[in-house]
Amino acid sequence: MKILLLGKGGQVGWELQRSLAPLGELVALDFDSTDLCGDLSKPEELAQTVRRVAPTVIVNAAAHTAVDKAESEPDFARALNAQGVGALAREAQALGAWMVHYSTDYVFDGTGSAPWTEDSPTGPLSVYGRTKLEGEQLLRQECARHLIFRTSWVYAARGQNFAKTMLRLAAEHDRLTVVDDQFGAPTGAELLADVTALALHRTRAAAGAALAGLYHLAAGGETSWHGYARFVIDFAQHGGMALKAVGDAVQAVPSSAFKAAAPRPANSRLDTRKLRDTFGLVLPHWQTGVARMLTETLQRSA
Ligand SMILES: NC(=O)c1ccc[n+]([C@@H]2O[C@H](COP(=O)([O-])OP(=O)(O)OC[C@H]3O[C@@H](n4cnc5c(N)ncnc54)[C@H](OP(=O)(O)O)[C@@H]3O)[C@@H](O)[C@H]2O)c1
Repeated sequence: MKILLLGKGGQVGWELQRSLAPLGELVALDFDSTDLCGDLSKPEELAQTVRRVAPTVIVNAAAHTAVDKAESEPDFARALNAQGVGALAREAQALGAWMVHYSTDYVFDGTGSAPWTEDSPTGPLSVYGRTKLEGEQLLRQECARHLIFRTSWVYAARGQNFAKTMLRLAAEHDRLTVVDDQFGAPTGAELLADVTALALHRTRAAAGAALAGLYHLAAGGETSWHGYARFVIDFAQHGGMALKAVGDAVQAVPSSAFKAAAPRPANSRLDTRKLRDTFGLVLPHWQTGVARMLTETLQRSA
């Protein structure tokens, strides 16, 4: 395989650099790469990059992920999340290449409590959700050999994440308030990257083309942001971290307690049966990955 990876410095992109390496030659770019253009907002230059690299697989981990900011710059969000994806997809199709792409629970309106399947009706509430949905649609139209992984609540050990923010706030304040009416599964960038590599490996088989499609990919189980925060803080406290806000001092509040530019879906549960059955995979419980990430974080800060 010759793999062109976009968004190499992001949460998922960073882990993909590790997980994709054993599959073949990897050309990894960011939006400010100099030799080759990896900027999703420049479709012409991006197309030239694909023609020069001539990959057998394009993996796009780049996106406009600033959910609230996207509300005030919808054209830019669309350029990255939809038009840039469309440009890559057309080039992938011209080469007969596979294209892997990531999408989001934000394509749903968040009603009800049942996990969303790949066939559930979409209804994005935000610019981010709408532009990500457009990106999915363009990819499906333009490139036959596509893998789209919709995921939720992504975290990574590298850089900032919700868990680290909660630990910082719990160390600084006597009391924390965290939303308890949005539900989903925190999903590690490591898991997304590993599943991507396993899925791509499977596409090499004779019947690989039949694997093309849209899949929900999230860690097992579910929680609220409040449940997530409580798990993180309890884990760190038991690991010996000095925290002020622990136990009941981590209080549950409704989403209405926080003002955000972009509405969040209340129900972000994703039904992952299709992915598990198609690829014969087990998706570990969200606490497994979060505990691992916290262990590494706590060891590093010790
Ligand atoms: N994060 C989540 O909770 C979440 C949930 C569901 C789905 N997803 C999806 O999962 C995928 C990966 O997300 P992530 O969490 O890894 O996001 P991320 O950490 O924000 O990474 C996105 C990457 O895209 C880069 N980028 C920004 N503008 C660009 C441009 N014009 N051209 C090319 N690259 C550009 C960013 O660079 P800079 O950092 O330098 O700006 C960053 O490296 C995305 O498709 C996202 O929509 C994420």
